Amino acid sequence: MLLVPCPFISQKFIFAQTMTLISKTAKESFTVMNELILPNDTNTLHNLMGGRLLHWMDIAAAISAQKHCNRIVVTASVDNVSFQHPIKLGDVVTIEAKVSRAFTTSVEVRLDVWAENIPSGARQKSNEAYYTFVAVDQSGNTIPVPELKPETEEEQVLFDGALRRRQLRLILGGKMKPDEATELKALFFPEKQN
Ligand SMILES: CC(C)(COP(=O)(O)OP(=O)(O)OC[C@H]1O[C@@H](n2cnc3c(N)ncnc32)[C@H](O)[C@@H]1OP(=O)(O)O)[C@@H](O)C(=O)NCCC(=O)NCCS
Repeated sequence: MLLVPCPFISQKFIFAQTMTLISKTAKESFTVMNELILPNDTNTLHNLMGGRLLHWMDIAAAISAQKHCNRIVVTASVDNVSFQHPIKLGDVVTIEAKVSRAFTTSVEVRLDVWAENIPSGARQKSNEAYYTFVAVDQSGNTIPVPELKPETEEEQVLFDGALRRRQLRLILGGKMKPDEATELKALFFPEKQN
């Protein structure tokens, strides 16, 4: 693509657009968000409300997806999220997000959430989740995203598992027929693949 000076668009912006389809690493999209649990975030038992946590996770994941895509992104789906331990008033929540795999116009973002009671030093994993974002232009049309290049063993495991998770969420979202889910079929019926 030709880079031409334009008085209305910065060179940095044009450079970012031309970089769109170059592969990126997970650490380039790594995002950390901290929140202190205040009274207005809690239910009547003084525990963090699940919806508030999902909202913060959505923001952290969207920032991560934007770092990967250098584009506007919209949330396409949120995979099943379980809340195993209550998070208490006064705790600090830390949300880590990074892109685990990119497809054509969508990216899967992996989230890890911890709750910490700073005075006691107790820190506990609260939950893990996957959010999917789609890159769009100003008119809402979907656009291609850069591929994700896994660098570590952990990133490779997340990358490999993303195909199965994608098929499951597309089936649940009514976007894929179960018959087309080859990765899932191979997982559940390995003997039928030969
Ligand atoms: C997400 C959205 C852009 C998809 O648009 P669409 O016209 O249905 O697009 P397509 O069917 O062509 O799919 C485009 C991509 O979205 C992905 N996608 C679509 N539905 C999905 C779902 N339920 N879960 C995960 N990914 C999904 C497709 O897999 C595809 O990804 P790929 O190109 O990487 O293979 C569109 O549905 C939308 O704008 N939704 C509203 C988003 C929003 O407002 N979010 C906030 C909710 S309050």
